[in-house]
Amino acid sequence: MLETIQSLSNEVFDDVVQLRRRIHKNPELAFEEHDTAALVQNTLEPLNLDLRTGIAETGLIATLEGGRPGPTLMLRADMDALPIREETALEFASENDGAMHACGHDAHTSSLLGTAMILSRIRDDLHGTVRFLFQPSEEKLPGGASVMIDEGALHGNGQPAPDTIFGQHVQPELESGHIGVCGGMYMASADEVYVTVRGEGGHAAGPHQLEADATLAAAHVLTALQSVISRNCPPDVPSVLSFGKLTADGATNVIPETARLEGTFRALDEDWRFRAHDLIERVATRTAQAYGAEADVNITVGYPALYNHPDPTERVREAALEYVGKERVVDLDPWFGGEDFAFYLQELPGSFYRIGTRNEAAGITHGLHTPQFTIDEEALRTAPGFMAYLTWRCGANGT
Ligand code: NI
Repeated sequence: MLETIQSLSNEVFDDVVQLRRRIHKNPELAFEEHDTAALVQNTLEPLNLDLRTGIAETGLIATLEGGRPGPTLMLRADMDALPIREETALEFASENDGAMHACGHDAHTSSLLGTAMILSRIRDDLHGTVRFLFQPSEEKLPGGASVMIDEGALHGNGQPAPDTIFGQHVQPELESGHIGVCGGMYMASADEVYVTVRGEGGHAAGPHQLEADATLAAAHVLTALQSVISRNCPPDVPSVLSFGKLTADGATNVIPETARLEGTFRALDEDWRFRAHDLIERVATRTAQAYGAEADVNITVGYPALYNHPDPTERVREAALEYVGKERVVDLDPWFGGEDFAFYLQELPGSFYRIGTRNEAAGITHGLHTPQFTIDEEALRTAPGFMAYLTWRCGANGT
C-alpha cells in the first residue's frame, strides 16, 4: 500500500499544485472563505463523498466510508488567509489587496483535497471511515475550530465522534518534504492582555497637584508584572509575558489621564495559564493602587495550549519513518505559536505535525506571517500522500 499511495500522490500532484495556486491567488480572510469553500466543494463532489457544508459559515465536512470496517479518523485543514499585503512576485500572487496566504493554509487545504483524492481511489481497501474537515478562521479569535465544534462538527448529525484527529502545518524552517513531530505539549496558549491605568491628567509642571500619574503607574505595572513569570511560574513550565505596546498619549508638558499596556501571555500548561491570569490582574491593580491610580485588566482568552496525544503522535512518527525515511523525520521542540487545532485535541485524541517547505537554493526561506512567505511546492508531492498513508495505516492497525 505504501508504494500505491506514493504513486497516487505523484498522480494527484499537478492537481494539488493547481488548487494551491488558485487558492493562493484568491485569499479570503477569516469566516469569509466563500470562494475557497466553493472550490473545496467542487473538488470533492466528483469523489462521491457525503458532504456537509455551511458549518461555522464556510466550513465543510466530507465523509468517506472505507470498504472495510475500522475506526473513524478526522483530518483537518484550515482555509483562511491573513491581512498582509503580499510581496512575493509569484505569478499566482494574491489578487485581493491586503489579504495573503502567508501561513500556508492554501497548502493545507489543497493538500487535504489531494488526500481525499488518493483515499477515494483506494476506498475499497480502506479500513473505517475518514472525515475531511475544512475549517474557517484559524487566524482570528475565537477560532473556526471552536465554532465548528459548537456547531456539532465532531458529534453532530447523529454520528459518533471520530476516534482520532490529525492536522498538519507547513514549516519554512524545515527542509521541503521533511516531517516534524513533537509529542506532548507542543504549542502554547495565546491570550491577549490589556491593562488600562487611570490617573488624573494635568500640567506636567505640577504632578504634586494630581491624584495620580497614570504613566508612572503604568511603568511600574509593566515592571512588576515581570515577577509573575519569574516568581510564580513553576520552573518547568515554559511561559512568556510580553508587552509590545505601551501608550500614554500626553505630551512633554501634559500628563495624560490614562496609560495603556497591551501584550501577549503564552504558556504550555492550562492550569498555570489561568492561575497566571489572576496574578496578572492582582499585580497590575495593586501596583497601580500603590501610586494612587487604578488599573483595569482585560484578558482576551485565546487558543488553548496544544497537547499532542502520545499514541496518535507515535502513529505519525511510525508512518513518517516508513513514508519519507528516517533521515527526513525530525523531532521538534515545543514552540510558542498558537493554533486552534488545540480545541480539537481537548475533545479527541490526535496529533498535529509539520511538513517542511523550505528550499534554500530556491530562496524559499521566509518565515510564516511575512509578506515574502511562500512554500516549496515539491512539499505537496509528500504532504497529501503522507496523510493518506497515515490514515490508511491507522485504519489497518485499528486505531
Ligand atoms: Ni497557520
